[in-house]
Formats: sequence, structure tokens, C-alpha cells
Amino acid sequence: EAIEKGGYEHFMLKEIFEQPKSIADCMRGRLNASTGHLVLGGIREYANKLEGAERIIMIACGTSWHAALVAEYIFEELCRIPVEVEYASEFRYRNPVINEGDVVVAISQSGETADTLAAMELAKSKGAIIFGVCNVVGSSIARVSHEGAYTHAGPEIGVASTKAFTAQLTVLTMIALRVAHRKGSITERKYHELLVELEQIPSKVEESLKLNDKVVEISDIFKEARNFLYLGRGYNFPVALEGALKLKEISYIHAEGYPAAEMKHGPIALIDEEMPVVFIATRDSSYDKIVSNIQEVKARKGRVIAIVTKGDVLIPKMADFVIEVPAAHEALMPMVAVIPLQLLSYHIAVMRGCNVDQPRNLAKSVTVE
Ligand code: G6P
Repeated sequence: EAIEKGGYEHFMLKEIFEQPKSIADCMRGRLNASTGHLVLGGIREYANKLEGAERIIMIACGTSWHAALVAEYIFEELCRIPVEVEYASEFRYRNPVINEGDVVVAISQSGETADTLAAMELAKSKGAIIFGVCNVVGSSIARVSHEGAYTHAGPEIGVASTKAFTAQLTVLTMIALRVAHRKGSITERKYHELLVELEQIPSKVEESLKLNDKVVEISDIFKEARNFLYLGRGYNFPVALEGALKLKEISYIHAEGYPAAEMKHGPIALIDEEMPVVFIATRDSSYDKIVSNIQEVKARKGRVIAIVTKGDVLIPKMADFVIEVPAAHEALMPMVAVIPLQLLSYHIAVMRGCNVDQPRNLAKSVTVE
């Protein structure tokens, strides 16, 4: 086992550090920004169904559901196709409206999650076209899909998903870019710009991993906290959800992820000097708004840990702690901004003596309802 962990103390840490490679592997042979090449070999015959879709339904559970939420923003922005993101377990039990030719994208690391599989089968029986985004080759979900794309992140052993998440985002972004390009819903210029940006993500993730020591320091300060709030807007809202999920999964600290603007409708009542609030506040179209949210938290004496874009001069004046990640296009920022959050949950859990690779009550693959 020590050999399998490749010198890391836990599989989770190894998998976090593998991400520059796993994201690059996911793009290998599929994307070449200098030639404008973008091909997903697993999506051919039904590609026109995606492009012509009137709506796309994305179904998943857990971390994969968070990847779907990011993809919703990306698909709607680039492809101008409405997307509905569904928890597989809710979708399957509520007599959903599915029309012949509807497009469903099922996202799953293991490809064996019972609820996701059942939801796909239901949609398929009603005439939907199913695309699978899976990590495990030949898994049940891959077999039930009409077509799909593998994430090629390699085996993920840690129960808390890390590299599978960033690989899912990579695949979903590639699918969205391909659809948008073929549909003509983005300009040629924007298409090429995003291909270049996507190709640079592995090196930006590499740079974010260098923040590890800083994250260790912050983890040490907050390791005894009983609650955490994670806030983000836009593309970073699902990142807030994912940061909170990682923390509760492995450290057993209660954590909530929220859209920052919704704070005033509830969570703001929780804020006092005891409450750490993690803001994912990178430079994007909602930057000014999130700056106001940080001020609101500081006015109530909350302790702010902010993930910001390198070079930000405003937020460091307000936040108690800042973690600077490299700049990236806002649609791709979740892959970069999630890295320090994965590390934060990992280090806090280790400091609390938790079994990070096998947290209590959780399973890597949930094959029961
Ligand atoms: C379990 C795992 C999570 C995972 C979820 C969905 O709860 O512990 O890490 O996100 O299942 O799994 P899937 O394999 O379908 O992505």
C-alpha cells in the first residue's frame, strides 16, 4: 500500500497532487489549442442530438453533482442551451417530464452509483438520449449510456473525490466548447481563447498546489472550528458547495456552502467571531458583489479566509487570510480554485486525527439506494 501511495501519507493527498497530470491526461489526444483540434472520440453518432437539444438534463450525486452545477453555467453561457441539474435520487422518484429526444448527461466517477444508474434507465425508457461522463472504463453507467466521454483520471481510491471532479470539469468543458463551436453560439475568437485557457489549466493547478504550506498554516488555526461557511457566486458557487462537502466528509466539521448573495436570507444570522467564512472571491464578473459580501461578514466579526486571484489588492485588506491562486478564465476557475479547498479539508482532517481515505459512514461507490 505504501508503494501505491507513491510516498504520500494518504491516497487523498496523492490524488490531489496528481491533478496537473490527470487533467492533462483527460485532454490528451482530444484537444490541441494551436491547431484548434477538439475531438471526443466517444461522442460521434449522437453529437447532433447535443447540438440540437432544446434542453439538457444533468443527473449525478455528491461531488459529481457539483461538477454538473458548474457545467450548467458553462453550457448555458457557451451553448445557450437551458440546463437542469438534478440529484439522481430526486429525479427518479418524482415522475419527471422527459420527452422523446431529450438529452441527459449522467456524471459519475465510479459509474456504479445506484441512483444515477436508475435515473438514467428511467430517462432512457422514455426516449432520452444519454451521454455518460465516467471515470471507470466499462462501468455500468458507461454501458447504459448511448455515448459518452471518459474522464481518464486514473483510479481514485480516497473516498472523498478530488481528481475525478477536476477531470469531470475538463470533459464537460470540452463537450460544451465542441457543441458551442459547432452550433456557432460562440465566436471563433472566443473558442480559440478558451482552448488556450483550458490547455493552461494543468500548469495553473500545479501553481495552486504550491500553496500547500500556506494552507497548512491556515488549517492549524481553524482545526478546532465547529462550523464553517463557504460562499461563492457564479461559477464559484458550486466550488463553495464542493469545499463545504469535502470538509464535512473527512473532518466531520459541520460546513455549509451557499451562494454568497443568499447569505442575507439566512446564514448571516450564524456569523459571529467564532465563524470561519471561506470566500471563493476570484476576479470575475461578480467580483464587486462578492467584495460587498466580505464586508458584510467582516462587519459582523466573522473570520474571513478568501481565495483570491493573484495580485488582488482589495480583498487582502479586508480578509483575515488570503490564498492567491493564478488568474484563469472565470468558466475554468473552479478547477483552480477548488485546489486550496481540497487541501484545507485534507489538512484539517489529518490534524483532527481523522481517517481521511476512509471516512466513517461513507463509501466510495454507493451501489444501494
Ligand atoms: C459517494 C462518494 C462521493 C461521490 C458520490 C457520487 O458519496 O463518497 O465522493 O461524489 O458517491 O459518486 P459517483 O461515483 O457517482 O461520482
